[in-house]
Amino acid sequence: MVKKVRKAVFPAAGLGTRFLPATKASPKEMLPIVDKPMIQYAVEEAEACNIKEFIMITGKSKRAIEDHFDYAWELEETLKSKGKKTMLKEIQRLAEHQFAYIRQGAPLGLGHAILCSKPFVKDEPFAVILSDDIIDPDDNLLGEMIKIYNKYKATVLALQRVPKEEIHRYGVIAGKEVKKNVYKISDMVEKPTSSAAPSDLAIIGRYILTPDIFNFIEKTSPGKGGEIQLTDALKALLKRKPVYGYLFEGRRYDGGDKIGYLKATVELAMKNPALRDEFKEYLFSRILSLSNKEQ
Ligand code: UTP
Repeated sequence: MVKKVRKAVFPAAGLGTRFLPATKASPKEMLPIVDKPMIQYAVEEAEACNIKEFIMITGKSKRAIEDHFDYAWELEETLKSKGKKTMLKEIQRLAEHQFAYIRQGAPLGLGHAILCSKPFVKDEPFAVILSDDIIDPDDNLLGEMIKIYNKYKATVLALQRVPKEEIHRYGVIAGKEVKKNVYKISDMVEKPTSSAAPSDLAIIGRYILTPDIFNFIEKTSPGKGGEIQLTDALKALLKRKPVYGYLFEGRRYDGGDKIGYLKATVELAMKNPALRDEFKEYLFSRILSLSNKEQ
């Protein structure tokens, strides 16, 4: 019987250099989008897919992540005494999950970060969620990927079409569409130049991996940027086992990049019924005054 995906790994040990100085002493994953840190959106995405165990890969200056998902009794008592039941429930709900924290001694790359989760993942399939890749909460990307995993019992990567000018920032695949939006992957290249890219299908920050990936990461030498790259381990896996890609056509924002982060903030604020009208009015008036100035 195929094992269910019950565990998710959240690599959060990167340095977040694109967001300095904000990330000098605070984790990038704790940057808020409207009223929640990026990593909470990621955890809620996994929660919605019935994930039961949350494995965080953290590092230096990342303690705030542990505190965020822990009980906070002083705050809870205050909320209780003030009758703020909804907020209290919301805060307690997250702490009820089972979290594990593993420190990645040095940011040696995404592949290495995932390898750190091996003692907790054991022999089960698992999801990997990069919390700085923000997926619109109304899109069920992870749920679709789990369905594909259940059908093919193989590794599934999330893909998105990316314009030529941006392709050098991603791992890029070659493959054949076997079903609408499902690709059987035949090759992948980490951060290619636009002329060397085998397609416009980029790997984005959601993966369903099988535990055999650990053997391949262990054999992977440092690649681009001196880091142990997940793409290199996946490429080796590909020679032995099928790997599928799911083409996601919904909205994604690169929250690790300033422009992506600003876009995510605007989009998620517009989805918030308590903010939408006032914020929309502000945006309209701001755009109007900017375009008047330009004329
Ligand atoms: P990124 O390259 O986007 O994040 O890694 P970064 O290194 O933190 O940011 P920049 O590029 O310096 O601005 C993708 C994800 O992998 C994690 C990061 O925390 C991020 O969630 N990561 C990366 C690790 O956990 N460990 C690593 O060694 C590298």
